[in-house]
Amino acid sequence: MTLRVRVAQQTGESAAADRVFVRRLGRRCAMSSVGALRRASEPAVRAAFDRLCDIVDDQSHVTLIAQRAQRRVGFLLLLDTLPDEVTALPQGFVAYMAVEPDSRGAGVGAALLAAAEDEARRRGLPYMALMVTEDNAEARRLYDRGGYHTERRLLCKPL
Ligand SMILES: CC(C)(COP(=O)(O)OP(=O)(O)OC[C@H]1O[C@@H](n2cnc3c(N)ncnc32)[C@H](O)[C@@H]1OP(=O)(O)O)[C@@H](O)C(=O)NCCC(=O)NCCS
Repeated sequence: MTLRVRVAQQTGESAAADRVFVRRLGRRCAMSSVGALRRASEPAVRAAFDRLCDIVDDQSHVTLIAQRAQRRVGFLLLLDTLPDEVTALPQGFVAYMAVEPDSRGAGVGAALLAAAEDEARRRGLPYMALMVTEDNAEARRLYDRGGYHTERRLLCKPL
């Protein structure tokens, strides 16, 4: 079945269904961003994902939805007005992305990332940035293949 990536509308019936899909899938996937160093409870991590969605909703963003026929299989949340905090240069920032477990490994993530880069280019943004957890092998593989380089590191020490 053909894969389609579309920009979610902000209002209307399908917009509401898209929002529910993003929240549900994102909550189910949130634990994959937890590194081995931190002891985190699943409810807290899921609640943190809800907070991330609220933060994204409060600023300029694009939601991309990947769909096969009528079935939504993945999403990507792109912030399009958040400059890099160090250089103040404009950039697109991937706040989060996820693909349904039974649809992984088939290029959905790569298609979402490519569509996000197109949206960023269309806005004249010269860079795309994102954060990924060291232990998240699938995500790191996707970004490595997509041409992303490590620019900074988040360090953590258990006390
Ligand atoms: C990271 C994620 C979005 C990747 O989505 P995806 O649709 O599987 O991505 P793709 O299929 O485009 O690429 C995945 C890579 O793993 C390979 N792969 C093979 N089998 C796979 C499988 N069963 N599951 C996942 N990846 C597989 C793919 O072939 C591809 O590698 P390649 O480019 O060398 O061929 C997905 O794993 C996910 O939703 N993870 C949970 C949420 C998450 O971690 N989000 C990222 C937050 S930073």
